Amino acid sequence: MSTNSIDSLLHEDRHFPPSADFAANSVASASLYTDAKADRLAFWADRAREYVHWHKPFTEVLDWSNAPFAKWFADGELNVAYNCLDRHVEAGIGDRVAIHWEGENGDAVSLTYAQLTAEVKRAANAIAALGIGKGDRVAIYMPVVPEAVIAMLAVARLGAVHSVVFGGFSAESLRSRIDDAEAKLVITADGGWRKGKVFPLKSAVDAALANGTSTVSSVLVVKRGGNDVEWVDGRDLWWHDAVEAAEPEHVAQAFEAENPLFILYTSGTTGKPKGILHTSGGYLTQVAFTHKNVFDLHPETDVFWCTADVGWITGHSYVVYGPLANGATQLLYEGTPDTPHPGRWWELIEKYKVSIFYTAPTAIRSFMKLGRQIPQGFDLSSLRLLGSVGEPINPEAWIWYREVIGANVAPIVDTWWQTETGAIMISALPGLTTLKPGAAQTPIPGIRIDILGEDGTRVDPPQGGLLVVSEPWPSMLRGIWGDPDRYVDTYWSKFSKPEEGVYKYFAGDGAHVDTDGDIVLLGRVDDVMNVSGHRLSTQEIESALVSHHMVAEAAVVGAADEQTGQAVVAFVILKANQTDAQTADEASTMLRSHVASAIGAIARPRQIFIVAELPKTRSGKIMRRLLQDVAEGRPIGDTTTLADASVMQIIGDKLK
Ligand code: WT7
Repeated sequence: MSTNSIDSLLHEDRHFPPSADFAANSVASASLYTDAKADRLAFWADRAREYVHWHKPFTEVLDWSNAPFAKWFADGELNVAYNCLDRHVEAGIGDRVAIHWEGENGDAVSLTYAQLTAEVKRAANAIAALGIGKGDRVAIYMPVVPEAVIAMLAVARLGAVHSVVFGGFSAESLRSRIDDAEAKLVITADGGWRKGKVFPLKSAVDAALANGTSTVSSVLVVKRGGNDVEWVDGRDLWWHDAVEAAEPEHVAQAFEAENPLFILYTSGTTGKPKGILHTSGGYLTQVAFTHKNVFDLHPETDVFWCTADVGWITGHSYVVYGPLANGATQLLYEGTPDTPHPGRWWELIEKYKVSIFYTAPTAIRSFMKLGRQIPQGFDLSSLRLLGSVGEPINPEAWIWYREVIGANVAPIVDTWWQTETGAIMISALPGLTTLKPGAAQTPIPGIRIDILGEDGTRVDPPQGGLLVVSEPWPSMLRGIWGDPDRYVDTYWSKFSKPEEGVYKYFAGDGAHVDTDGDIVLLGRVDDVMNVSGHRLSTQEIESALVSHHMVAEAAVVGAADEQTGQAVVAFVILKANQTDAQTADEASTMLRSHVASAIGAIARPRQIFIVAELPKTRSGKIMRRLLQDVAEGRPIGDTTTLADASVMQIIGDKLK
């Protein structure tokens, strides 16, 4: 368990009630809680009718007869892209800006709802012309440019399924995701801008498809970086050629509520990333509802900015589907926060008058380190609500965020959720909740959360336990692509009692309820690390390390890191006969880049220790807990269960 410690949070007594002004105009009202409590399913059915346009209305709410495989609003029909686009134009707000996009290099464009709708219609025709239709999978490997959003919506419009792969992932990671989903089309760009340079994407797609055995028959390439690309005739097509040649009109067809919308891969406790499957009607209902109420969205006046890349779930739910379903105006930014200068984000907030800002604790901590004078050099007075996501936010960072970015008045919503949950599950509702630093606080209306002990009974506050979701929810994952057994095993086996009809979703997080009754998240309890709000599996990185010919054995731990929450630290035993590296330093440098090219730069270990042995139990299990002590510079804990107790002594001595 990482960032938060139970002790410090038990004594958190700073409370921030909503101002009278904020409360008077807030979107969320207390009746949401009472309605949801009175009849949970009726509450969600009402939200589905309020936030979604149904081509064919549903009559069933939840079908849980095949639990834990859920169906929500199953006999209803909708088109997700129509909900995000056409209906706003038809409602007369076509002239409202949907997206203000700014590239890292200063390129900028604003698209109204009418323009975005027109672009998506053409793109849908172009993609359909490549043989893509309902149920087909399309991989999207893009920088954060409007075409990434357009591509996602165009695929959704056709009833096809997108699988967005974060542009920072390697060719190898892209290939495994393409193969697992059996994608027919890849949409990419020549390259994108990052830290003042163009990074290539098309070449990674070429490498991923190099041996010619993949299921991909076409590659659509957006021109963005202007870098040179190689071309495979008959397979590769420029996006602008295909889209310009396409017909402008496209009528959105209705698909059933459970039609798959996207697959998004995320790390689990075992080596292979899981393809998390989300479907249409329930997902859209919960992302739109939470986007509106958690962020207090007033679509006529607010400018929303979620800094996530579209390659992560946060980008799916709170850049693409939530904001666009709600007719919001938002900012989309391609680059990193520090390019070309460390005040870039604050400059953008000033320029676009951003009023709602949603980012990750790791970013906030890096701004804290740079000092308050940087944000104070810009006019941030448009900001009226701040959000946090991805990992526990430590109270110091929370207070700094409120004081320095939020002028001591903006409410902060600390939102807990996961790729699997699809939408926010635990968060304050601004205007209603009295806020407390470091706590996600309350399940959103209609969501039931419990904190259980290992034996499955509820723990008494303020004891810590494991977080479960005790009732199915509309935006829940519908499965792991191609692996129903893994879905049941991973999430539904620990606490469910199928013979009694009891199903509880195990999230993999530790949490406790404090003396005010607020939920405080304590970090992952499994072998999943959280590095800068991104999920990485220790085993996936270990597999990447042992795939290198000079490595005999490897163990990876997530070590507490002031900046990134956790950092990847690896312990590696080299093969006795390896001759590639002359020194431990050299080996460590080579292996760090090997991991980055195998998985992606986010997985590059902060440190690799070359060791002679790893601490193992008598049954051969690596004791990561002890390695974590070393990685975090603590005295080494209890070694009595080690097969050879001297191993830790040797590792410890060597590292001194
Ligand atoms: C894991 C999910 C969905 C957002 C992006 C990450 C951690 C997320 C919080 C929060 C404490 C948080 C959990 C969770 N997490 N938000 N507000 N407080 N922890 O999505 O990659 O699927 O990771 O991120 O450990 O299980 P993800």
